[in-house]
Amino acid sequence: MRKPFVAGNWKMNTDSHTSISLAESIVSGSLETAGQSVSVAVCPPFVYLQAVAKALSASSIAVGAQDIYIESQGAFTGEISASMLKDIGCTYALCGHSERRHVLGETDELINKKVTAAIGGGLLPILCVGELLAEREASRTNEVVTRQIKNCLAGLSIEKVSAVTIAYEPVWAIGTGLTATPQQAQEAHDFVRKLLLQMYDAQLAEEIRILYGGSVKPGNAGDLMAEQDIDGLLVGGASLSADDFIAIIQAAA
Ligand code: PGA
Repeated sequence: MRKPFVAGNWKMNTDSHTSISLAESIVSGSLETAGQSVSVAVCPPFVYLQAVAKALSASSIAVGAQDIYIESQGAFTGEISASMLKDIGCTYALCGHSERRHVLGETDELINKKVTAAIGGGLLPILCVGELLAEREASRTNEVVTRQIKNCLAGLSIEKVSAVTIAYEPVWAIGTGLTATPQQAQEAHDFVRKLLLQMYDAQLAEEIRILYGGSVKPGNAGDLMAEQDIDGLLVGGASLSADDFIAIIQAAA
C-alpha cells in the first residue's frame, strides 16, 4: 500500500513571520492526520527553510526545498547544495518544477543532474513532469511525459529511483484554476506507472508514489485522491492557506 503524500509548494511567497505562523497553524490543524495516515511536507522559500524546519521539528511534517544545485560545494554563486539542505533538516527537494522548466529554462539534462545530486546528498527528490496545453491538445501528453521521465531518471539505479516521488503536473493546470479531471489525471498516472514498470520492475512501479499537482483545492482533492493511481497531491496556491491545506490533507487521509 502506498501511503498518501501531500506536499505544499509555497513558491516565492510568505515572509519571516508568515512562514512560521503558516507552519504552526498546519501543525496544530493536522495533528491527527499528518504522520498517521498521510505523509505531509511543506516547501518554503530557501531563506525561511531553517526556521520552518525548526517550527515543524516536534511534528511529523517534513520540509522540502523548491530546488537544489547539482554540485555539493564550491564556487557556484547563489546556489544551494543538497548537503546544505540536509544539514538544516530538509527531507525532500522538488526537481524540475514546471516554473523552473518554463520560466527559468531548466532542461531535462539539468534536472537529471539535480535528481542525482538530491539522492547523493541524502534528500528525497520529487520529480515534476507534465505537458503544456498545446502538447495536450496535440495528443502528445504521453510522449512528453515519457521523454521527461526517461531523461530525468537517466543513469540512476533502481535502488536510487526508489527514493523518487513523481509529481504529474499538467502545466496548463498550474495556478490557472483549471484542474485536470480526476479521469484525465488517472489516465496520466496510470501511463506513468506502466512506463516505470517497463523501465524498472513491478515492485518499483507498485511502490513509487505519483502525486497530482495543478490547482488542487479542498473541493477537488477528494475526487482526485479517489483515483487508483493518484497517491497524493502537490499543492501550490492552496497550501498558503492553513485551512485549505489541512482540508486537503484530510481529504487525502
Ligand atoms: P497550484 O500549483 O496548486 O497553485 O496550481 C501547483 C504547483 O505548482 O505545484
